[in-house]
Amino acid sequence: MSRNFLHRGYNKIARIFGRADAKRQNFPVLEGHPAAQESAEVALKTHGTVKDKRLFKEFRIYRWNPDRPNRKPFLQSYHVDLSNCGPMVLDALQKIKAENDSSLSYRRSCREGICGSCAMNIDGTNTVACLRPIEEDTSIPTVITPLPHMFVIKDLVVDLTNFYQQYKSIEPWLKTNKPPKEGREYRQSRADRKKLDGLYECILCACCSTSCPSYWWNPEEFIGPAALLHAYRWISDSRDEYTEERLQALTEDQRRLYRCRAIKNCTENCPKSLDPADAIHKMKTKHLLSQPMEMVESM
Ligand code: SF4
Ligand code: SF4
Ligand code: FES
Repeated sequence: MSRNFLHRGYNKIARIFGRADAKRQNFPVLEGHPAAQESAEVALKTHGTVKDKRLFKEFRIYRWNPDRPNRKPFLQSYHVDLSNCGPMVLDALQKIKAENDSSLSYRRSCREGICGSCAMNIDGTNTVACLRPIEEDTSIPTVITPLPHMFVIKDLVVDLTNFYQQYKSIEPWLKTNKPPKEGREYRQSRADRKKLDGLYECILCACCSTSCPSYWWNPEEFIGPAALLHAYRWISDSRDEYTEERLQALTEDQRRLYRCRAIKNCTENCPKSLDPADAIHKMKTKHLLSQPMEMVESM
C-alpha cells in the first residue's frame, strides 16, 4: 500500500474528526476545496522527498491515432525522472511531450484546476491531471487513460460534443421577465448568493458525468450530473424567474433527470469537491413537491 494512499486515508479520517485544520493553514487559498487541499499536501510532501534523488517513474499512457485506424489502442510506457519534474501528473505529461514524444495528445490550459481541460482517468479515477499529485512509489506505474465511455479523438483527447450540448440544453444563463431595478444590474442579498456556493465552482471537466454508470448506459437520454448540477445552480438563483419552466424542460422526458439512480460516483470523482448527487437529489425533491400526488405515485 503506497504512502500517498495512506496519507489520503489519514486526511479523510482527520477531516471527519475535524483535525485537519493545522495542515490546511499551508494553503489558505484552497479553503473549502478538500480534494485540492489534499492533493496539494501530497504533492508538496512527495516533491520534497524526491527532488534530491534521481528517481524514475513509469507512466503507461493510452495511445490511439486516428491516422492509423487499423492499429489497435495500446498503452505506451514512458520513464520520467521525478527529481527533474513538477509534482503533478500534468507536469509529467508536459515533460514527456516536450522531451520524449511530441506526438502525445491531451488537453490542458490553466494548469491549476480552473479550466477543466486536462480531465482524464489516472490509476482508475477520473480527475484533472493538474490537481493529481504524482504517486511517489516508483515500483508501480501510473496508468493514464481517456475519460471512460467517451469517443476518443486521439490519445487522451475525447469528444465532448454531446456533453456540451447537454450543458447548453439547460440554458445556463440568467432568465428574467423584467428589467433590473435602476436599470443597471440584478442584485442579490449575501444570503441568496451563499446558496450558490458548491454549485457555481463547477469547471465542466466531465469527470462526474463520465464516471456515472447511468450516463454510460444512457448518454443521449440522461443529461448527466454536470449538466444537472448547472441546472440546479440556475434554479437556486434568487434572481432567476424560470424555475418552473426549467424543471418542466428537465422532466418532459423523465429520463433527462430521473435516470440518476443515486449511485454517487459523480460526487466521489469530482476534483473540485462538489456534490452533484446532492444537487440532483434536491432538484428531484423540488420537482416532486411541485407535482400532484397521482403524478408522483406514477413515477
Ligand atoms: S448519483 Fe446519479 S448522477 Fe451521480 S453517479 Fe449516481 S446515477 Fe450518476
Ligand atoms: S461537478 Fe465536478 S466533476 Fe462534474 S464537471 Fe463540475 S467540476 Fe467536473
Ligand atoms: S489544465 Fe486546467 S484544469 Fe487542468
